[in-house]
Amino acid sequence: MADREVNWKRRALLAGCVVAPIAIGAAKKPRDHGRGGHDDYFGGIQQALREAGLMQPTLVIDRARLDANIERLKSHLPSSMAYRIVAKSLPSVELIRRIREATGTDRLMVFHQPHLDILSAAMPDSRLLLGKPMPVGAVDRFFTGHQPGAFDVSAQIEWLVDTPQRVRDYREIAAARAAQGAGPMQLNIELDVGLHRGGFTSTRDVAEAIQAMHSDPAVRFSGFMGYEAHASKMPELMGGPEAALADAMAFYSDCVSTAREVLGSAFDEDVLTLNMGGSSTYELYDDSAPCNELAMGSGLVKPTDFDTSTLADHQPASFIATPVLKQLDGVRLPGLEGLSGLFQAWDPNQQQTFFIYGGYWHADTVSPPGLQRNAIWGHSTNQEMVNGSDAVKLAVGDHIFLRPHQSEFVFLQFGDIAVHEGGRIVDTWPVFQQGSTGSA
Ligand SMILES: Cc1ncc(COP(=O)(O)O)c(C=O)c1O
Repeated sequence: MADREVNWKRRALLAGCVVAPIAIGAAKKPRDHGRGGHDDYFGGIQQALREAGLMQPTLVIDRARLDANIERLKSHLPSSMAYRIVAKSLPSVELIRRIREATGTDRLMVFHQPHLDILSAAMPDSRLLLGKPMPVGAVDRFFTGHQPGAFDVSAQIEWLVDTPQRVRDYREIAAARAAQGAGPMQLNIELDVGLHRGGFTSTRDVAEAIQAMHSDPAVRFSGFMGYEAHASKMPELMGGPEAALADAMAFYSDCVSTAREVLGSAFDEDVLTLNMGGSSTYELYDDSAPCNELAMGSGLVKPTDFDTSTLADHQPASFIATPVLKQLDGVRLPGLEGLSGLFQAWDPNQQQTFFIYGGYWHADTVSPPGLQRNAIWGHSTNQEMVNGSDAVKLAVGDHIFLRPHQSEFVFLQFGDIAVHEGGRIVDTWPVFQQGSTGSA
């Protein structure tokens, strides 16, 4: 009796050893993700691109969705706050022009010296705040290359200072300029409100910096900038976004009080630029925040990095569209041709291979559904391989659509933006040039 029991147990154990891996394997076996071709939305954009002759990798903006996102922004913006366009995230003069017209703002945030050149020339009525500190050489280069005109470099640019040393460096530039009759340089203090990407961390340093600026006619203290992108990602266990934002605002508020104390009767909140915010946090602000303007850009076109709960009511408005160049059955990898059947047997999403025009962008495929990258083949910027099951309806000459992870930089890789609305490409918007290294 005992022997039989041991035998039974051993058999059960052996069966378990065989069945368990099969069960785990079966659970991990990929399902077929293909669901046909494009839906009406992407089918419409594909048709519009064909009619416009755009059979190359193209960045498409859906203008109706862009406009809807702008309306969302306007509806969320607290009444006491102005809006500042983050230019690097919307890197096209025409795109920015449309947003300016819809929001009525003249405030832009700029992160690259060549973009300063472009915007000061194309939008002489704009007010530019640097979103990061520029090296002294880049500031010099801007002033050297700038053609005097309607744009007043003294009144319309706020340079960002992140350390006491940067304040000293910029005061030297400002003194040299003042000696030639130029107006003062406006300096805005970057505050580290919790992101820890640099900026002032103590009210004592802030007080000394404001004092130094106040006593120097070649510069003018113009306000604060505090960016808190970390807040939207703060886990609930650590208090969530609200707690991180409250901490950020507490330090910001202390710095505004410091400015009030140092400047005394010269303190005027209305003329200061008190900047905070970004796409993933701006909806969390109300009139009680210690700032008087909010910056945001990416949320108006909503790349995938901005699929956050704090931006749930914004719609994706930008896509990469690129034609399919080749379609092959199965997946044939060099040296592994014999394994083609195995690949398909394991993963039905490898029943077809498509080579697309270009690739290796920071982007995810979105239409038709069920396309995936081939990890063994790797990436190609020339002709990327994507795979899909037989359920994916896609042919040579069709487009596939991807959503960029971010708009800054990715938007600059395709030439002019194709603007889609109502089934047609209604406009093309040139993107920013990244600048030349020739003499300024
Ligand atoms: C200083 C600063 N403010 C605001 C933003 C927000 O930009 P966006 O809304 O495009 O994320 C950024 C983004 O990098 C930033 O660096």
